[in-house]
Amino acid sequence: MQKRNSVFALLIWYICIHLVCAHTEKFSTALTIKEDGEDFSKEEKAHGTQDPEDLEVFHPTNEWRTLKPGQAVPAGSHVRLNLQTGQREAKLGEEKGLKYLRDGQRQELMNKQAAFFSTQKLKEALKKFKGEDDNPSKKDLGQAEESVRSQFRSVDDLKRDMEALDFLMETDIQIMRKLLSQFNSTGSTVDQRVTVLLDLEYLVHQVDNAQNLVSMGGMKLVTDALNNTDVRLKESAAFVLGSAISSNPSVQVEALESGALQKLLNLLATPHPVSVKKKALFALACLLHHFPFAQSQFVKLGGLQVLGELFQMPGADALHVRIVTLLYDMITEKELISQTGKDAVRDSSHQDYLQYAEYSLLPMLAEQGWCTLVPELLVSPEHDRREKALHALLAMMTHCQAQYQQNPSLATSLSILQKEYQKLALTEETLGEEDGYFGEILALLDSLVQKMH
Ligand SMILES: *[C@@H]1O[C@H](CO)[C@@H](O)[C@H](O)[C@H]1NC(C)=O
Ligand SMILES: *[C@@H]1O[C@H](CO)[C@@H](O)[C@H](O)[C@H]1NC(C)=O
Repeated sequence: MQKRNSVFALLIWYICIHLVCAHTEKFSTALTIKEDGEDFSKEEKAHGTQDPEDLEVFHPTNEWRTLKPGQAVPAGSHVRLNLQTGQREAKLGEEKGLKYLRDGQRQELMNKQAAFFSTQKLKEALKKFKGEDDNPSKKDLGQAEESVRSQFRSVDDLKRDMEALDFLMETDIQIMRKLLSQFNSTGSTVDQRVTVLLDLEYLVHQVDNAQNLVSMGGMKLVTDALNNTDVRLKESAAFVLGSAISSNPSVQVEALESGALQKLLNLLATPHPVSVKKKALFALACLLHHFPFAQSQFVKLGGLQVLGELFQMPGADALHVRIVTLLYDMITEKELISQTGKDAVRDSSHQDYLQYAEYSLLPMLAEQGWCTLVPELLVSPEHDRREKALHALLAMMTHCQAQYQQNPSLATSLSILQKEYQKLALTEETLGEEDGYFGEILALLDSLVQKMH
């Protein structure tokens, strides 16, 4: 404690905001495929509304800069309290102990990915609160701000939690070291190694634990296990990988560097039980989430084709909605990136991302038959699946319109669904529920039908 106090006395107190944010983020992201298949949020509604920057997002750089009162700090930033001036300062998070520190280029990618990712998350979070209303009142904005702040914890709250976390982190590191050496030991059975992976999966939800997994060499062990001969190891490895990557930009970069993308695509392209493919899709979605560079690699490696074949594989129905969700999220993220491009003049760090993202997703999707594959999801009896299919169909409209028009079964499905949801929406309304879920689906259907002609 004595030593710790003297460290604090050095004027500066580092706090990693992302330490605490990771958990909240997991619940607010639309792309991360959840095991229970939660729905797309209403994000797309928010496109084109007010500039989210109105809500004062701090854009961290490599330099310490003073935070204005009330500014929200993106996850992954370092925040310190300058005890001399009493001001809070923030800058980009830097990864401690990562091997890429000596490699300037990779480090740069890492930093940019961290900044890009967290800025996008924060914007999304802000948008989501405003999404309901194109013209939010001051009061709404106040509430939105408050809600966002409650996700991106205040520095004071963080300070309070730090000591407890500090203590817990040490314990986690010890546990992880033990787990990794058990996993790596030639004497361990497959059962033991699977158990280790599941324990790790639990731990890596904590952002710092995920980073420790990397610095302890665990990322290599996990990615190696992706092409192990035992399917249970593959499945659990993909699960750990997805959870470690989720909402963690530096680990995303590490995973990509360690060849995880190619291995996940191999898993998806070759015969494996659906349970394995589910976890591989989960990890893939996490790897691609807000990571334009990984997305362009995915496209280059033939990822769209792999997903297309998987979609058409007999018995893979359980994967359909995950696949379409992943594609839909890639489409909307690209939209978001081109919107961000408008800010590029004053924020040059986004320039690279525009380049990374310069592949044309929609024409490729159309070319590879997705205009006819996605409508198949509409046949599902589940509202959630239909809703996701409708979102994706709308997003692909510009390149699929002709194919939609020539698809008689799509026309039939849509008119049946319209009737069904008209009834459901009416019931909803009589129960006093305006803007209900069925009403929303009906609006999607109407919009799709209208845009098709
Ligand atoms: C796993 O074992 C190999 C060989 O024994 C060793 O080189 C490697 O550093 C170990 N990795 C970890 C993370 O313990
Ligand atoms: C897994 O892939 C790596 C290279 O990607 C290869 O060296 C290794 O032999 C493979 N392991 C198995 C079990 O196929």
